[in-house]
Amino acid sequence: MVSPTVTLNSGFEMPLVGFGLWKVNNDTCADQVYSAIKAGYRLFDGACDYGNEVEVGQGVARAIKEGIVKREDLFLVSKLWNSFHDGEQVEPICRKQLADLGIDYFDLYIVHFPVSLEYVDPKVRYPPSWQNAEGVVKLGKATIQETWTAMESLVDQKLARSIGVSNFSPQLLMDLLRYARVRPATLQIEHHPYLTQKSLVNYAQKEGIAVTAYSSFGPLSFVELELKNAQDTPKLFDHATITSLATKYNRTPAQVLLRWATQRNIAVIPKSNDPTRLAQNLQVTDFDLAASELESISALNQGLRFNDPLNYGLDITIF
Ligand SMILES: NC(=O)c1ccc[n+]([C@@H]2O[C@H](COP(=O)([O-])OP(=O)(O)OC[C@H]3O[C@@H](n4cnc5c(N)ncnc54)[C@H](OP(=O)(O)O)[C@@H]3O)[C@@H](O)[C@H]2O)c1
Repeated sequence: MVSPTVTLNSGFEMPLVGFGLWKVNNDTCADQVYSAIKAGYRLFDGACDYGNEVEVGQGVARAIKEGIVKREDLFLVSKLWNSFHDGEQVEPICRKQLADLGIDYFDLYIVHFPVSLEYVDPKVRYPPSWQNAEGVVKLGKATIQETWTAMESLVDQKLARSIGVSNFSPQLLMDLLRYARVRPATLQIEHHPYLTQKSLVNYAQKEGIAVTAYSSFGPLSFVELELKNAQDTPKLFDHATITSLATKYNRTPAQVLLRWATQRNIAVIPKSNDPTRLAQNLQVTDFDLAASELESISALNQGLRFNDPLNYGLDITIF
């Protein structure tokens, strides 16, 4: 099965279902990407801080070499890390990431977080993290406008077909839209029934910005990181609202959660290391939940966010 697509404001088609690359281990990553392409995945959501772009590129290259796909069949996404927000750092790091992947353009390149950190030379520390080379979190000086102007030049140079943002609030988006020469094509946000972000989703969609959900399974991804609020939160897969719909439609709870998003035109990028779950996560656009059922899932909202730097003990207030 291959995912349906959404048309971005840049004119390009983006698959509604893709594969997330965060926490995909280096030793298995190339094989996983290759298998995911064989299973029908076309969108891969990466980032330089995931530390596996070389291996992602190896998996892609193998699939292309074997004639399973062509480069233009794929939709390869990556992100600008916070320590590369200075205008003059955007293009060099984008070029390094492209070289690591062995490709010459990204389908979509995203500002990962709306926060500038002090520049750290990739020769000193790569993949990057929240901390600088001395292990200290230091804010940088770049404004979002400076960073966005440099992102726009990536489009001019055909290094990125579309550009987008992640973890932005409605206020930041509203400001960015005042000066953007190239509008953000997508907004990637944490989105699951415990954190529906309804007004942000509505605002972005109204502005023609496609929304992509990350961490669609809520606390699950963060339990393995031993985040306290994730460990203390009941699993969505066990929630009666989700399990009853899974039974009714003869689907898994994961498929119900992903359908709740895709049916509202929100793209999803689940990550799985398991071949069966990986295939299952792609089959989430061939059944429909009733409007009242979509609402019953949305009603589980608690405004509960897991992917917040504060939850990792970092003194950075974004949300
Ligand atoms: N922009 C950002 O700041 C940001 C932040 C976080 C994530 N992301 C992106 O979003 C992607 C997805 O988010 P995520 O990695 O946090 O988590 P996720 O996809 O919500 O959840 C991954 C967890 O769910 C399990 N899982 C996957 N499919 C399953 C299924 N069908 N049944 C049962 N369990 C299943 C996985 O285990 P197994 O692997 O064992 O199946 C893993 O423990 C990331 O990989 C990344 O690309 C972006």
